[in-house]
Amino acid sequence: MPQKLGHTSDQLVDLYQELLAERRLILVSNRGPVEYRIAQNGELQLNRGTGGVVTALRGISKHVEVTWIASTMGEGDRLAASGQSGRFQVALPGQRLYLRFVTSPRNVYHKYYNLFCNPLLWFLQHYMWNSPYTPNVDAKVYDAWDNGYVAVNRAFAQTVIDEASHDRTPPFVMIQDYQLYLVGGYIRQEMPNAILQHFIHIPWPASSFWHLFPDPMRRAILESLCAADIVGLQTNRDVHYFLHSCEMFLEGAKVDYESHTVVYGGRRTQIASYPVSVDLAALHRIVRSPRVQEYEEKLRPYLGEQTIVRVDRAEPSKNIARGLKAFDMLLERYPQFVNRVKLICFVVPSRSGIKQYERYTQEIFDSVEAINAKYGTEEWQPVKLFFENNYAQSIAGMRLYDVLLVNPVIDGMNLVAKEGPVVNARNGVLVLSESAGAYEQLKENVIPVAPADLEGTTQALYEALTMDSAEKKRRIEALRKSIEEEDITAWLYRQFRDLRNLACQLPLLLHA
Ligand code: F6P
Repeated sequence: MPQKLGHTSDQLVDLYQELLAERRLILVSNRGPVEYRIAQNGELQLNRGTGGVVTALRGISKHVEVTWIASTMGEGDRLAASGQSGRFQVALPGQRLYLRFVTSPRNVYHKYYNLFCNPLLWFLQHYMWNSPYTPNVDAKVYDAWDNGYVAVNRAFAQTVIDEASHDRTPPFVMIQDYQLYLVGGYIRQEMPNAILQHFIHIPWPASSFWHLFPDPMRRAILESLCAADIVGLQTNRDVHYFLHSCEMFLEGAKVDYESHTVVYGGRRTQIASYPVSVDLAALHRIVRSPRVQEYEEKLRPYLGEQTIVRVDRAEPSKNIARGLKAFDMLLERYPQFVNRVKLICFVVPSRSGIKQYERYTQEIFDSVEAINAKYGTEEWQPVKLFFENNYAQSIAGMRLYDVLLVNPVIDGMNLVAKEGPVVNARNGVLVLSESAGAYEQLKENVIPVAPADLEGTTQALYEALTMDSAEKKRRIEALRKSIEEEDITAWLYRQFRDLRNLACQLPLLLHA
């Protein structure tokens, strides 16, 4: 169990300042903290970046100076990057945020993102391979590795090196996620004294899955990760599997399951779990905003006597199709719910350039249509699907659930499971997959489901819909308490505390 920390955000700010008095903080992630769009009048418009990584980290620059290195995403970013030779300050009031873009040629980025990172690594790490048939690591994949993944990771590392080369003291570099596994290794070759942390937001799978993956790629990934001082993962399960992968695939590595360390190539790497969480202050602010309140009113006509809600990216690992199937089975088996219980799905479009995502999205639309045709009438439709990226609307939806269904095949954490109980206004019940990272923390007060268990999911929905109100209240209060104790401040605090402890052990080394 993570240790409780009784700290406040003031202590976190003190920690930042102590830590960053001598060294610069560089954050490195594929998606950046902001995204530029070209408005109709040709001017550049600044929008908040999307995704869990950015949401988790964007608060830091309110307190300390941050240099953030990220890929250009669209034409707006390319235009914003084109006039700059190095980092530039982002025009966000109250923020000390400097951005430096890495712009890859379009075909290189396509190989990196659409051929390697997502259909291969993401699928592997979420157990989405159908091993007798997929993946097929053919010449196209080898090419995507060499001329996509390796190329973009090298470009990121070079950008960090350029950025920090004039600093008196080597920086703290915090690298994020699976898109950038090779960055740490390249940086380490040039900057032996940098303090490197790599946080992996998605699950680390059992070694039997990595067995299917080519040895040179697997080894390159593990060698690079073990060039970091700290590898952070979401859960104890991920830490265990990571240590086991090093033992299996990294010849010469000394793995210690007690201290959670790997010694490889003369370097000791700490493997730690830091379960990511929600920004409570920001959530409370958004719940009170007029925009969310307006959406609540707009959503009321779609509610049933009781309403099941789900919020996901259009993503096969989120298990939306099985969730719909279980709802169908619920209405079939318990006809008393027909005309009374509704399901509202808030689905955010995602990775539309990848064929598996396109197919999965179509499947969601088809299932919704089939369920509505089977049980619906002109006046009553059991499922409502919102297919758009509208955070305020989904928060409004989570205010109104009686049951929140979060049943991913597997998930690094799943922040919907933590946002829901915090914002919900109806003492709703959380039905949660045992393989979501959030389950480790929330399991005592949810109804658990195994993600493939359609019968079990149907029964879990039934149990949630018929639970007595005192029990519902007790559970949601316990969930809130646990989430409040472990919010995003705790996630950041633990990581910066461990970096501080590490920095204290090292003399203040200057650039070699
Ligand atoms: O951690 C997984 C992640 O990178 C999150 O930031 C985000 O929720 C999701 O994947 C989206 O990924 P993409 O950048 O491919 O849209």
